[in-house]
Amino acid sequence: MSHHRTGGAGTVLVDGIATLVTNDPSLGKGALGEISDAALVIEDGRIAWAGARAAAPAADARVDAAGRCVIPGFVDSHSHIVFAGDRSREFAARMSGESYSAGGIRTTVAATRAASDAELEERARRFVREAHGQGTTTLEVKSGYGLTVEDERRCLEVASRVTDEVTFLGAHVVAPEYADDPDGYLDLVTGPMLDACAPLARWVDVFCERGAFDERASRRVLTAGMERGLLPRVHGNQLGEGPGVRLAVEVGAASVDHCTYLSAEDVEALAGAAERPEPTVATLLPGVDFSTRQTYPNARALIDAGALVALASDCNPGSCFTSSLAFCIAVAVRDMGMTPDEAVWAATRGGAMALRRTDVGHLAPGARADLTLLDAPNHLYLAYRPGVPQVAAVWKDGELVSG
Ligand code: NIG
Ligand code: FE
Repeated sequence: MSHHRTGGAGTVLVDGIATLVTNDPSLGKGALGEISDAALVIEDGRIAWAGARAAAPAADARVDAAGRCVIPGFVDSHSHIVFAGDRSREFAARMSGESYSAGGIRTTVAATRAASDAELEERARRFVREAHGQGTTTLEVKSGYGLTVEDERRCLEVASRVTDEVTFLGAHVVAPEYADDPDGYLDLVTGPMLDACAPLARWVDVFCERGAFDERASRRVLTAGMERGLLPRVHGNQLGEGPGVRLAVEVGAASVDHCTYLSAEDVEALAGAAERPEPTVATLLPGVDFSTRQTYPNARALIDAGALVALASDCNPGSCFTSSLAFCIAVAVRDMGMTPDEAVWAATRGGAMALRRTDVGHLAPGARADLTLLDAPNHLYLAYRPGVPQVAAVWKDGELVSG
């Protein structure tokens, strides 16, 4: 649709916005900085101006939002989209009573090792397009289905061709070859594997969970990554209470993800970590608890205690095969005690905080022009109309990527 295009030289006015969510309280109402009857101006891939329509400056071109809603593009801070193979039967078995176990990861590892780089890249690109089509403009991507030096390295290379937010997750589970020698695998991950992988990644992650890595092993992985300049993030408290949250807060991780089973001390630690200049965000992944038939995390308790909460998809073939943040928002509102405003914030600004990004997740002047136009008068419709495609158009850096 050429009338949505904003590329080329000059300024573009996006006009006729019924509700503009800026996520900047100084620009509008409430925590979402909501402006009714709004407009914004894009210049050189950035937001140049946002405010009331009546006050909009002149621009070289105009896009008509036609009485709909504009939000910042979703910032999906957790995905595993570099993989091959399929685990739909495992999902079906869970829905008839089997429980989720981390061991299923090895099925995907075998398929991923057997796939060519070109196959992995083609598939990852398809997921990125799928995510764009659902309003996501920033997507973190992890390795973790290679588990050899060479396979982790090539998975990260594929990831870095599709995103800037690349995470090394060699410590996803112990590689099958090291089943009898988990310490040998730890030596590999924290030595030669990190040497090969650290230059390709921004983040180091570890699956700190029963059946994966315990507290001591997880600390070793994170520390080794940090020594090579990577920033830490943690998978924790997914399948039961455990040391993940405590460890994430201890090392100053940007985020601890899952947080399904939290003790009172965990909630308190996350509330304390929210006060820091570089906070640790609690990233909740409702799609996982949906697809593994677990209880949902208690977002209300976290927010009421003062913790920072983000929502992400965790798109992966095992525990959760959705890339839809709109779906996550709907579940978070229906079953996790979040208000629609909180859930929309968590999937945009919250995700940006979980990636320590200040250039995305909001639409104040200077921010990247990453925006999603909804076929709805306001952002409440994301949870109000679950399962209904409502993304009309998506711009990343001012360029139309979907719609
Ligand atoms: O975040 N928790 C660990 N890793 C993924 C699941 C990976 C899989 O089952 O393939 C997750 O849920
Ligand atoms: Fe994950």
